[in-house]
Amino acid sequence: MINEIQTSVENRVMTVRFNRADKKNAITAAMYTALADAFADADKRDDVRVVLITGNGDAFTAGNDLADFQNNPPRGADKPVARFLRQIASMEKPVVAAVNGFAVGVGLTMLLHFDFVYMAEGAKISAPFVDLALVPEAASSLLLPQRIGHAKAAEVFMLGKRVTADEAVHMGIANGALSAEELMPTAEGVALALAKKAPEAVRQTKALMRTGREDVLARMDAESAIFGKQLQSAEVMEAIMAFWEKREPNFG
Ligand code: COA
Repeated sequence: MINEIQTSVENRVMTVRFNRADKKNAITAAMYTALADAFADADKRDDVRVVLITGNGDAFTAGNDLADFQNNPPRGADKPVARFLRQIASMEKPVVAAVNGFAVGVGLTMLLHFDFVYMAEGAKISAPFVDLALVPEAASSLLLPQRIGHAKAAEVFMLGKRVTADEAVHMGIANGALSAEELMPTAEGVALALAKKAPEAVRQTKALMRTGREDVLARMDAESAIFGKQLQSAEVMEAIMAFWEKREPNFG
């Protein structure tokens, strides 16, 4: 396990932490591998019944590392990001997220696969794929419109709207908007309560609540094909260069 992803197990809860605060917990290929391994391990282990995920520092995660997009673009079905996304779409055990700050891109789309999402009051979630000349991933093009309706999903994906914690609760993305002090105690309390419940009943309930898994996996593949193609485009390079140079992109 690499240092940028920390895991610990206590009271049958595996806590997974993004630990790259100086880069707002942006996720590299190595971090996706560590995340996929941690979630797969949690699903297998008898001493784990719940996963709790959060970020160190002031961000949950700024999404995919943009330098990785440029220098190490994900390719093929076994790429680390695809492994992680398939793993979270297939988890048998419940997952609780404590969103401590910005959650961008995959930082938002992973939440759609989790069971409980608590957000700090100042936290904002966004999926500005079009701003980066990219397209949605993690089956979010299917799951987000299902969850919040087409009109609001279009604002998130196409306009890059930042959704506040209160809005996320209102939209049905999050369970609660909490003060910074209340966030971890609340999320940990929910994780501990879940860990005490009948594990088979929890697992079966999660399985029954998850509809259309085949559709979700098929949508991930479809998105990934377009995403990979876009990543090689001049418009993505312009969007990423604009981020580094702290300027507006010029798409001509
Ligand atoms: N990939 C790589 N590095 C990133 C990053 C990312 N996705 N997001 C932030 N960073 C780095 C910045 O380059 C900066 O590094 P530096 O200190 O070496 O210059 C550091 O993290 C802090 O980021 P900064 O932008 O200064 O913080 P902020 O508080 O002003 O803004 C965000 C936070 C998350 C809103 C902003 O960083 C952002 O928009 N990041 C890009 C998000 C994104 O587009 N993700 C991909 C989605 S598909």
